[in-house]
Amino acid sequence: MAKLIYSAIASLDGYVEDAQGTFDWAAPDTEVHAFVNDLERPIGTYLFGRRMYETMVFWETAGTGDDQSAVIRDFAKIWRAAEKIVYSRTLQTRASARTRIEHDFDPGAINRLKESSERDITIGGAALAGEAIAAGLVDECHLFLTPIVVGGGKRALPDNVRVQLELLAERSFRSGVVHLHYAVGV
Ligand SMILES: NC(=O)c1ccc[n+]([C@@H]2O[C@H](COP(=O)([O-])OP(=O)(O)OC[C@H]3O[C@@H](n4cnc5c(N)ncnc54)[C@H](OP(=O)(O)O)[C@@H]3O)[C@@H](O)[C@H]2O)c1
Repeated sequence: MAKLIYSAIASLDGYVEDAQGTFDWAAPDTEVHAFVNDLERPIGTYLFGRRMYETMVFWETAGTGDDQSAVIRDFAKIWRAAEKIVYSRTLQTRASARTRIEHDFDPGAINRLKESSERDITIGGAALAGEAIAAGLVDECHLFLTPIVVGGGKRALPDNVRVQLELLAERSFRSGVVHLHYAVGV
């Protein structure tokens, strides 16, 4: 059975986007990006909320040129190879290959996908992942805490959800980013 995994790069106070709607402060450097690439490499399917999809679909057409670094080219290749399911009540057309749009987030369908998938599945952004955490669907969480306090914005983890976590691994990077890997709901 595949695991459903939520990954987010957040400020130390837990926001994926600040109150101005920006998240340039969360951009990974080469060391963190290479680590993220290795986490993404085995993933078979990405579940995206519409907003995260609109950010990430950039990778469908970018990042492969000779002028790009090896880590960027690697990520673009990994992103294009994965299957994508985009959750949206408004989006009508997909902007990438290997992509389908779902208008409803059905926990039963996600459980069936986990049962039938040979490779693990990721979920993002924060709103969609929050629904999945609340529904008890998320098995693991990777948080990358960036050394900045932004004071407000969009929270990486959902309000009004209480769930126990078990720390599986931790790592710090030269940039001051700290990676925390948790099992969820243990
Ligand atoms: N920190 C970082 O490194 C980083 C990286 C990339 C992006 N970001 C930021 O992260 C933010 C993620 O945004 P977010 O957490 O608001 O959004 P999200 O989860 O990516 O997308 C929310 C949208 O997903 C759809 N959706 C959610 N639940 C649904 C359901 N039950 N059924 C059907 N559709 C559903 C809706 O789309 P419709 O409105 O179309 O119905 C909803 O507006 C982005 O705004 C981006 O700025 C941060």
